[in-house]
Amino acid sequence: MKLNCKHLCHSLDLSLEELDYLFNLAKEMKKNPAKYSNSLAGHILGTLFFEPSTRTRLSFESAMLRLGGQVLGFSDSDQSSAKKGEGLWDTVRVMDGYCDIMVIRHPKEGSSLLASEYSQVPVINGGDGGHQHPTQTLTDLFTIVTEKGSLENKNFAFVGDLKHGRTVHSTLLALARYKGNKFTLISPSELKIPAYLREQLTKMGAEFEESTDLKSAISDADVLYSTRIQKERFFNEEDYLKLKDNYIINNCVLSHGKKDMLVLHPLPRVNEISIEVDSDPRAGFFRQAKLGVYIRMALIHTLIKGGHTNA
Ligand code: CP
Repeated sequence: MKLNCKHLCHSLDLSLEELDYLFNLAKEMKKNPAKYSNSLAGHILGTLFFEPSTRTRLSFESAMLRLGGQVLGFSDSDQSSAKKGEGLWDTVRVMDGYCDIMVIRHPKEGSSLLASEYSQVPVINGGDGGHQHPTQTLTDLFTIVTEKGSLENKNFAFVGDLKHGRTVHSTLLALARYKGNKFTLISPSELKIPAYLREQLTKMGAEFEESTDLKSAISDADVLYSTRIQKERFFNEEDYLKLKDNYIINNCVLSHGKKDMLVLHPLPRVNEISIEVDSDPRAGFFRQAKLGVYIRMALIHTLIKGGHTNA
């Protein structure tokens, strides 16, 4: 399939039909990995990580290696020429000659979009500041489809740092396009979703309410999506310390949830989900991290092999 977009910068860049295609391809790749194990031989993925990462970078690397391709890049921008003052646009123009597709994580909002304007090869946003994380969204949606059968008619409870959490911003917008979904957004009042996102959800006709009360919101939830308080986005440590342990999901909290509720978290977690929850079958976050490899395989395979319509 040809995607309509050359780059993936935002979670709304892909149509629902394209998302369905990627979910089906990821499922097929998971079931029959040998069929794809050489499909990207001769192709190179560039990884430009200006912020720390475990899952995004390594699941992309794993995805490319499982498709028979190769990987080059950096995970510590202090070891790149950014340290000498090189602008992202120059780094991207150079990397474009070294790889066939690149994934970029950067602390500045809009950095991937900027990079896409300077790159001849597809650019994938691996997280741009507190803005977007579209491949985490692909992972989240693929996990929900895999575990709950569909992306429609669900009650979602998002809890944590809804102000800075880029995965929340990406995934909320993506889920708001599916019919019948309802959202409860639980956070301290200081960490509510940004105004632009509230306006966008309203324009899309999304049914959502904002709350500070986790226990009452959890009883109706089909999916509970927890996020870390994003320490690195705070201007001072004192504010972070005040808010960091506001919501802790433990077995007692889970006892208020449905028996088949799915608990997701993009990870890394700090304190927001107690370790005791890991043995509850509803805890889906490690399964979610693993599914991230297959959906990224499907994405890079499709961007490289299928191409796009808006060259
Ligand atoms: N979910 C996620 O983006 O994790 P990393 O920061 O480890 O990549």
